[in-house]
Amino acid sequence: MILVTGGAGFIGANFVLDWLAASDEPVLNLDALTYAGNLENLARLQGDARHVFVHGDICDRALVDRLLAEYRPRAIVHFAAESHVDRSIHGPAAFVRTNVEGSFTLLEAARAYWSALEGEAREGFRFLHVSTDEVYGSLGPADPPFAETKAYEPNSPYSASKAASDHLVRAWHHTYGLPVLTTNCSNNYGPCQFPEKLIPLVIANALAGRPLPIYGDGMNVRDWLYVGDHCAAVREVLASGRPGETYNVGGWNEMPNIEIVRTICALLDELRPDPAGAHERLITFVADRPGHDRRYAIDARKIERELGWRPAETFATGIRRTVAWYLDHQDWVAHVQSGAYRDWIAANYAGRGAGA
Ligand code: NAD
Ligand code: DAU
Repeated sequence: MILVTGGAGFIGANFVLDWLAASDEPVLNLDALTYAGNLENLARLQGDARHVFVHGDICDRALVDRLLAEYRPRAIVHFAAESHVDRSIHGPAAFVRTNVEGSFTLLEAARAYWSALEGEAREGFRFLHVSTDEVYGSLGPADPPFAETKAYEPNSPYSASKAASDHLVRAWHHTYGLPVLTTNCSNNYGPCQFPEKLIPLVIANALAGRPLPIYGDGMNVRDWLYVGDHCAAVREVLASGRPGETYNVGGWNEMPNIEIVRTICALLDELRPDPAGAHERLITFVADRPGHDRRYAIDARKIERELGWRPAETFATGIRRTVAWYLDHQDWVAHVQSGAYRDWIAANYAGRGAGA
């Protein structure tokens, strides 16, 4: 079996569902169920013996040791993290704890476990660390996209904590020989993304007739990738990636935020017209994110050249599927919009110059 951390979150849950749809290899899913973890994402697996869920923290060394000893996974796929840049600005401590200390704890547990393996089990073991393009910093308009050789220049508490974890992973390979793989992926979107991130926030707000908050001038650029394509890339790297290597994963799809929001508005006008008028009327420019990176773009040629991976979904098809998923899962959205969610929205958007 494989051990997946953070498998009740957005990408982790999509990964677990896709994995078990494609293979019968069981998944041990370790997740602390923070505000971002949601077992509803995995409802389809209820009663499926191939999925073993453990409610626990990656910082808990004794727990991780026990799980490794008991379940003997052939690989660890490490998604668990604090993932939202705005939250890292409001409260960086949780990011250092989970992203740095948690990754360190997992690496140490994995090292002890792997060191005691023998033969094929030791040869074949992999620790796959899921990271982000944000570690590379911000691009100017004419800069080439991030290649794996780009120097790290993280700018937010979130990206700094992910950069720190990437460095630990690298060092555990270089020093101890742990067979690690690292993926650095661009912005994901798709089903089950928590509505604190731009795309699901805009869909949820638009459906509720609330303002659609655009930071700054709306011209910050991200490289959007459908989550299923990210999961396929992780599977490919796990199967055939070279230990010690990093692989950049991206959608070849750079778009400014305002264009993303207008695309969602147009889709909602088509699929769920609002008698009060076009959804674009709700667009509201608000104060910028402190330290807001201007542009990210991924050069994904290495993973294509070495492993044959390319995104299958275009943005046009992926965003249509995503909007349709949120329209079909309004209960899911209502459940995650708890009191704690409302507190976060109030904390992040109050004082930005418009009520979100
Ligand atoms: P998410 O916030 O939706 O989910 C994170 C999951 O980790 C949750 O289920 C949460 O309960 C769990 N978790 C948090 N702290 C934990 C702890 N201490 N112990 C165990 N579990 C814990 O995040 P996501 O968007 O699914 O991102 C998953 C991974 O992919 C992260 O490592 C993130 O840095 C990386 N990534 C995300 C994106 C993106 O666009 N979302 C892009 C590139 C890379
Ligand atoms: O690049 C990969 C990263 O993408 C991941 O590592 C992170 O985990 C993930 O959260 C994401 O980070 P971003 O900061 O790019 O994503 P977010 O959805 O928060 O914001 C996308 C863009 O939209 C960014 O330029 C900020 C802007 N934005 C965001 C929100 C929440 C707005 O304009 N208004 C908003 O209300």
